[in-house]
Amino acid sequence: RKAVTLPALQNMKDAGKKIAMLTCYDASFAALMDACAVDMLLVGDSMGNVLQGHATTLPVSIADIAYHTSCVARGNKSALLAADMPFGSYGTPESAYENAVKLMQAGAQLVKLEGGAWLCDTVRFLTERSIPVFAHLGLTPQSVHQLGGFKVQCKTTEGAERLLSDARALQEAGASMLLLEAIPASLGKSVSDALRIPTIGIGAGLDCSGQVLVMHDMLGVFPGKKARFVRNFMAGQTDIASAIRSYVEAVKDGSFPATEHCF
Ligand code: KIV
Ligand code: NA
Repeated sequence: RKAVTLPALQNMKDAGKKIAMLTCYDASFAALMDACAVDMLLVGDSMGNVLQGHATTLPVSIADIAYHTSCVARGNKSALLAADMPFGSYGTPESAYENAVKLMQAGAQLVKLEGGAWLCDTVRFLTERSIPVFAHLGLTPQSVHQLGGFKVQCKTTEGAERLLSDARALQEAGASMLLLEAIPASLGKSVSDALRIPTIGIGAGLDCSGQVLVMHDMLGVFPGKKARFVRNFMAGQTDIASAIRSYVEAVKDGSFPATEHCF
């Protein structure tokens, strides 16, 4: 297939075609996901949980993400490749740029950062310097100690209004995409409708431009507590390629997420 690009994903949103994204951490899974037509791969700082066995994403370093990004880039041919900026790597625009360059040189095509309006200067600084930005709002796991746990966000009217204004500000600052995690499905819809750029949801309802899951969750290999938004796509399948294909199909035809996966 043709390489998936940011303009191609923008066209998918405009045409109402759903974007299927998965996290990925190594070359073999990257080759398999690419062959199964996953549109976008994310080298997530969820590696802190699923690869490294930590309780949070906070211990993940820029070197960890750069190493796994280089592994994924070697296995991937055509999926768009995003990499997470880990905790502590984007406190200022300058430090964000220095660290994002490492991920881009490892093979990332855009970088994901967690945060609202306070991040706008950094988003502008990166995009002006040719680094596309994927913003992340809602449940932002790097803020777990401020949030007091991994819980659904923006359940109040004020919270929903703040998220919507953060989303608009990030798009205005130049973000190419927006990830929405663990928010009411109705808010996922209003943000996706209000923005021009594609939104990718994880526990953010069916009306986002696309969906993402952590690979270990969708294959049923993560031993920890399963979040409401997770579906095990290995159930009823005999091989991993079939599970990945059934995930892509379910995202594309709108059968995932179902109401039981939403807030
Ligand atoms: O690190 C990660 O896996 C993420 C999720 C939202 C997919 O950021
Ligand atoms: Na992440």
